Amino acid sequence: MATTLISGGTVVSAIGRRAADVLIDGESIAAILAPGHAAAYGITPDTVIDATGKYVVPGGVDAHVHMSLPFGGTVSADDFDTGSRAAAWGGVTTIVDFASQTVGLDVRETLAARHAEAAGECHVDYAFHQIIGDVNEESLEAMTYLVENEGVTSFKMFMAYPGVFYSDDGQILRAMQNASESGALMMMHAENGIAIDVLVAQSLAAGDTDPKFHSYTRPEELESEATHRAIKLARVAGNVPLYIVHMSASEALEEVSRAQHMGLNVFAETCPQYLYLSIEDHLAQPGFEGAKWVCSTPLRSKHEHHQKDLWKGLRMNELAVVSTDHCPFCMKDQKELGVGDFSKIPNGMGGVEHRMEMIYQGVVMGEMTLERWVETCCTTPARMFGLDKKGVLEPGADADVLVWDPNNTTKIGIDDKHHMAMDHSSYEGFEVDGKVDTVISRGRVVVQNDTYVGSKGHGKFVKRGLNKYIH
Ligand code: URP
Ligand code: ZN
Ligand code: ZN
Repeated sequence: MATTLISGGTVVSAIGRRAADVLIDGESIAAILAPGHAAAYGITPDTVIDATGKYVVPGGVDAHVHMSLPFGGTVSADDFDTGSRAAAWGGVTTIVDFASQTVGLDVRETLAARHAEAAGECHVDYAFHQIIGDVNEESLEAMTYLVENEGVTSFKMFMAYPGVFYSDDGQILRAMQNASESGALMMMHAENGIAIDVLVAQSLAAGDTDPKFHSYTRPEELESEATHRAIKLARVAGNVPLYIVHMSASEALEEVSRAQHMGLNVFAETCPQYLYLSIEDHLAQPGFEGAKWVCSTPLRSKHEHHQKDLWKGLRMNELAVVSTDHCPFCMKDQKELGVGDFSKIPNGMGGVEHRMEMIYQGVVMGEMTLERWVETCCTTPARMFGLDKKGVLEPGADADVLVWDPNNTTKIGIDDKHHMAMDHSSYEGFEVDGKVDTVISRGRVVVQNDTYVGSKGHGKFVKRGLNKYIH
């Protein structure tokens, strides 16, 4: 098998950093060596990658993406091909997408259909969560089956989007009880969708139709209330591990932090958009421009304390993971569906390419350490979702590696760095003090010298085990 030595770099893990060389044999990490010692061990690698002055970290794990998601009368713009390629451009070597069961559908059939969509299309490795939108005897049985047989060990439910993905408290409780028995992790979109729909109808009736009203009709109280309720339901269901997705609000974070102090198995993620973007600077831009940033949970006001609190939450491990909730829609023909009615703007924004970059900038800004960057973007998402060979650089792990250049810069924008299938960039104009240098997916170089050298079909489906914090 071909061997590669990444030499001269600083290897950064969730717990520290040291000068070391990384030896790859085929698709796996073979050894972490003292710098310059390969020859002494009789190793003559087929390829040497010089990482002098650079950080060598595990490939990123983005545990929350939506390729080709049918939503809001359209389909998210990146498919598995374009989206996973963009992920690779951003140093991400594993993505976790969703199979989606809604009312009347058979869970196993929706998973099989998602497999068919992704097979042979991906540039990096991928896995699936299962959305449960119709709780009944068959779907509960299927949940257990997926955990035991399909490597799908986490289930997303929605307290939002009535009539689409929404489940009521009784349905959520039943699914949580099932997960409590199988060992699965429950993921929750925590917003009170019933109350939100009242506010949306009132806003439209008052003529408040611009994109910014998307956020005003989804106030933080309705995120924190749902978060609180989800936590209580999870407790009643036997302290089932609960993972709150795309957290945007301080009050919701307080609910999570309180639950953690009570010893409950509650985890949460946030996304770069909630750390950097705001109503004032983005969602409330003049005309229809703000539609680019319509997503749920929504962007919040920069004059409140959400961003500061979310960074603090990441430092303190109240927020364990950064994912992107990558769900891009073009302005043309997609976001435009909501001209004159914000409630018809498809919810979601793209970012799978920029998570490693935007969170590294948090290291530069002093919001977190280099190690915490690796932990929240690589190691913890892998452990959280049972991706046992991902998120670490150690012998036996998959050879998924990002060589990061801290002495270079990245300009993000539609005419700058942008490889996603959308007609605008959510992070237009942002500059990052660091750069993706080389990306390796299971031993194969996919990005090098600003060139894409990977290929569609290289990415394989990964069966996942149980959450490694509880089991
Ligand atoms: O706005 C969002 N988040 N779109 C994707 C679907 C979801 O709720 O995660
Ligand atoms: Zn969601
Ligand atoms: Zn999502």
